[in-house]
Amino acid sequence: MKLFLDTANIDLIKQWMPTGVIDGVTTNPSLIAQEKNGNIKAALLDICNMVNGDVSIEVVEKTPEKVYAQAKEISNLAKNVVVKIPFAQEYLPVISKLTKENIKINVTLIFSLTQALLVSKLNVKYISPFIGRWDDIDIDGMELIKDLVTMKKNYNFKTEILAASIRNVIHLQKSILYGADVATIPPLLLDKVFKHPLTIQGIEKFDNDWKKLNKTNMFNEK
Ligand code: G3P
Repeated sequence: MKLFLDTANIDLIKQWMPTGVIDGVTTNPSLIAQEKNGNIKAALLDICNMVNGDVSIEVVEKTPEKVYAQAKEISNLAKNVVVKIPFAQEYLPVISKLTKENIKINVTLIFSLTQALLVSKLNVKYISPFIGRWDDIDIDGMELIKDLVTMKKNYNFKTEILAASIRNVIHLQKSILYGADVATIPPLLLDKVFKHPLTIQGIEKFDNDWKKLNKTNMFNEK
């Protein structure tokens, strides 16, 4: 399973990359807007250079013609760029054309099995179902992940299921259990995952017990 960081914050990406567990980054217009970077292109290029894996960058144009042109522009930024395009019927011909040109596409804002089926047929690299936003309206977003994994198995689709809008540890744990190919995680949540209270308590106990031995060096007999 691949783990992506869901952020456009360069410092946080810099902080997490050395852990070796981050396989890519996802951004979106809201995440980019939060960073208030003057030069967006330079910031995105920095992210692409820092990350050894796919970096999703979303189109912001609206008409199919402009979405196509912008997708091409984004895909030329770096080798590891994946162009993120929101699901919309009018974009299907654009997505189809782009995948035939071997441009990696991540179709975002996926909320149903049928949306997912349509774009999987077009050979997009990723589909991004938004778990948390289903939960926001009191519907269990995890059910969609379960269904998408079944769909992928039934029809042997290559498209990877990228669990997005992950808000808590349960979302992440269930994404792992249900077999999502990728989970994109906000850095704050990843912090939480790393800091399990029982692990912290356990280390404290080992440290305290070890100190009682009063040894300056582990293998020194004195
Ligand atoms: O990866 C998608 C994500 O950035 C959206 O998350 O929390 O805004 O629904 P959220």
